[in-house]
Amino acid sequence: MKGKVVLVTGANGGLGTHVTQAFLNAGATVIGVSRKIQQSDFNSPVFTALPAEISTAAGAKSMVDSVVARFGRLDVVAHTVGGFAGGQSIAQTDDATFQRMFDLNLNSTFYLLRAVLPAMRKTGNGRIIAIGSRAALEPGPGVGAYSASKAAMVSLIRTVALENKDAGLTANVILPGTIDTPANRKAIPHADVSKWVQPANIASLITWLAGDAGKDVNGAVIPVYGNDV
Ligand SMILES: NC(=O)c1ccc[n+]([C@@H]2O[C@H](COP(=O)([O-])OP(=O)(O)OC[C@H]3O[C@@H](n4cnc5c(N)ncnc54)[C@H](OP(=O)(O)O)[C@@H]3O)[C@@H](O)[C@H]2O)c1
Repeated sequence: MKGKVVLVTGANGGLGTHVTQAFLNAGATVIGVSRKIQQSDFNSPVFTALPAEISTAAGAKSMVDSVVARFGRLDVVAHTVGGFAGGQSIAQTDDATFQRMFDLNLNSTFYLLRAVLPAMRKTGNGRIIAIGSRAALEPGPGVGAYSASKAAMVSLIRTVALENKDAGLTANVILPGTIDTPANRKAIPHADVSKWVQPANIASLITWLAGDAGKDVNGAVIPVYGNDV
């Protein structure tokens, strides 16, 4: 990953922290984006914190423009921004929850992809890895807005894979089951965490997809369900 410019969205999140660290360990130049990201979140001279709101078109575009202006290129995007809402049936789901799920999970992805593609096509070797959810393929009761937003996101990524293979670009989406994050441990205190997915393992998969060996994997929808299969 030496010489590669990598953008990680959600870089200070439960998963994004591991993804950012994995790319730093691999020698990449990493730009970490979130609304509240700070330079002190990662102790590395090749890490740059870039605070941004990416669920708006203007926010995503100005963030990407500043990355390209400063670093001159963009090789890899690992998109981990997303969020969950549950507990309401479709009949109960209010407009604000539905809108929030689509802003966070789908619109952020669309605005990000549209903004990064021109620069990434120029590298001839671009890699996009996005984080969906198991719920994209396996909707359950009470998570309809979340599942629908992640399902649409999978469709977007697969379309980008088809539209940009002529430029040597790959786009893949990983569908995790429940991830072993501090937030999940707090929210579900008595869970059997041995069934959960380790975030470091997802980070390894992302860096593999971003590396030379990952060049032949394009348009893949990759389930990572831990021991809860
Ligand atoms: N946790 C799970 O069990 C699980 C399971 C399946 C799929 N997933 C998916 O995996 C991904 C990561 O999950 P996670 O648990 O790591 O989530 P998380 O801890 O909530 O992290 C979300 C990250 O996104 C950033 N963010 C949120 N809204 C943003 C916005 N509008 N603009 C810019 N940054 C924003 C947050 O930082 P700021 O607050 O600083 O903006 C944070 O860095 C998500 O897509 C999630 O849907 C998670």
